[in-house]
Amino acid sequence: MLNGIYRNPTTIYFGKGAELSVGEEVKKYANRIFLHYGGQSFKKFGLYERIIDSLKASGIEYVELGGVKANPQAGLVYEGIDICRKEKLGFILAVGGGSVIDSAKAIGVGVLYDGDFFDFFERKALPQKSLKVGTVLTIPGSGSESGEGAVITHEKLGKKYDCGSPVMYPVFSILNPENTFTVPPYYTACGITDAIAHVLERYFSNTPFVDCTDRICEGLIKTLMKYAVLVDKEPANYEVRAEIMWACKLAHDNTAGFGRKHDWACHKISHEIGARHDIAHGAILAVIFPAWMRYVYRKDERIFLQFADRVMDVDAGAMASAPVILKAIDEFQRFLKMIGMPSTLGEIGLHEKAELTDIAAKCAALMPSGTIGNFARLTSDDIEKILLSSF
Ligand SMILES: [Fe+2]
Repeated sequence: MLNGIYRNPTTIYFGKGAELSVGEEVKKYANRIFLHYGGQSFKKFGLYERIIDSLKASGIEYVELGGVKANPQAGLVYEGIDICRKEKLGFILAVGGGSVIDSAKAIGVGVLYDGDFFDFFERKALPQKSLKVGTVLTIPGSGSESGEGAVITHEKLGKKYDCGSPVMYPVFSILNPENTFTVPPYYTACGITDAIAHVLERYFSNTPFVDCTDRICEGLIKTLMKYAVLVDKEPANYEVRAEIMWACKLAHDNTAGFGRKHDWACHKISHEIGARHDIAHGAILAVIFPAWMRYVYRKDERIFLQFADRVMDVDAGAMASAPVILKAIDEFQRFLKMIGMPSTLGEIGLHEKAELTDIAAKCAALMPSGTIGNFARLTSDDIEKILLSSF
């Protein structure tokens, strides 16, 4: 196990009606706040009224800005920064999924910075401070509700970059599974796929002696797979939604990643595709991850055999290792397909082979080494082969 820092400062309020006390919680930080959200669905099912009532009951004034899209964009972040400064707002309340929370985090660091907030995402500067952010989560999956990271697409620059800093953890997040009952099946599946990918990025590691976190990873993936199937049949079952919501949170708060090297190549590839095409992040990962697994498993078959045995329950029998691993990957992809996820780049709208070369080159150029990933270090040539295998 590697040395490390374990930090998990976000207070979670979990359960039925948890959002009813949001006003009291916000009042600890400011009396005038910025309320940030996505589309109109937030206003359709009563959550908006419950939050506004709670804020008013605590004497909180708010200025609101909706319109955050699935791949949150820099344009709205700039708008949010301007509003927070002009209105002298002291806190940001994000109501939505990972996109809204990421947008709120970017606004938070941008308000207190003299330069362009995107400097943080281009690694030109490190965030030193932020307006405090609280969240009411409505779509589980991103893990942003208790993580230090955010991902923003700069639509004018054609870049989708991530940024992480200890100052970007939300101070609190409200997780009421009832608020996820109306998430459509496709977006529920995208969120679950994203959460599984967050675990797999940590699980496929060359670090030895990490049995505790191996077992945590395996438990999280099996839980998410089980409830991904059940939620399709019972979208308004509280216990089913609760299991998903909690597993998605744990999948990305680094409980599952402590003491081990992570990979993150699939996320980097996914972000490059997401910067060019408006496709749900989870759907891109559903295509990329199985292709990546087939390409890299020979680097260290031990962890893939463990995945086959403990996660996918493949009966190895007298089979050699490669067929066992490939069977497990096939089963995993079959599961993703069953919950409505795509299997090929064509299915998500990528039809030009020439574009894949450019995507691969841009991904590799992200790092000074010219490679991405840790489990296997991928050159642009490797990335292109992975993309071609899922074409
Ligand atoms: Fe993700």
